[in-house]
Amino acid sequence: VDSKLIIRRANDGDVDRLVGLCAVVQELHASAIPDFFKRADPKAHAHWFREMLARTDVTAWVASSNDIVVGYALAAVVSRVETPFSVARSFYQLDQISVAPDYRRKGVARALVERVVDDARARGLHEVELTAWSFNEAAQSAFMALGFRPMIVRFGRDCD
Ligand SMILES: CC(C)(COP(=O)(O)OP(=O)(O)OC[C@H]1O[C@@H](n2cnc3c(N)ncnc32)[C@H](O)[C@@H]1OP(=O)(O)O)[C@@H](O)C(=O)NCCC(=O)NCCS
Repeated sequence: VDSKLIIRRANDGDVDRLVGLCAVVQELHASAIPDFFKRADPKAHAHWFREMLARTDVTAWVASSNDIVVGYALAAVVSRVETPFSVARSFYQLDQISVAPDYRRKGVARALVERVVDDARARGLHEVELTAWSFNEAAQSAFMALGFRPMIVRFGRDCD
């Protein structure tokens, strides 16, 4: 890990950088699955990040190296009510994580995930969960290396 890497809570002043880092992931997904994902939309995403930063059930962190924001993570508390089939439970959902291409494979995601796990514990939550699209094998490998294990495989088929 870069000794100068700092993980801190994101604030409104980080929105432009969050939008930029989010655009990298968005374009990756939009290129792979254009029928589902929209292209990166900086204005709409800036509005979305401002709304998320104001929520108490959502937390975003940025990783900065020499005052440059090089990655971010955003997690939300998800609560499921009891059903006849499953117990009530709450967990932390790591909805977004992105590291700038030039700063990958240096432990930035690991530092972000450790902070997310610490915050989950502080909130009394016992699990952190995330989803990854099947095409995104690099992200899946990274998540496995970061201690996540597959829980569900979602299948889909065309009807035409
Ligand atoms: C996935 C991503 C967040 C990883 O960030 P990172 O800062 O490079 O990850 P780290 O350096 O902290 O690596 C953490 C672990 O994952 C492994 N890893 C990271 N990228 C990997 C890759 N492309 N392939 C295989 N393993 C990888 C590392 O080797 C490390 O494991 P180790 O400590 O056992 O060696 C980054 O590649 C990224 O932003 N990708 C594009 C966005 C994306 O796909 N986000 C997820 C959407 S679901």
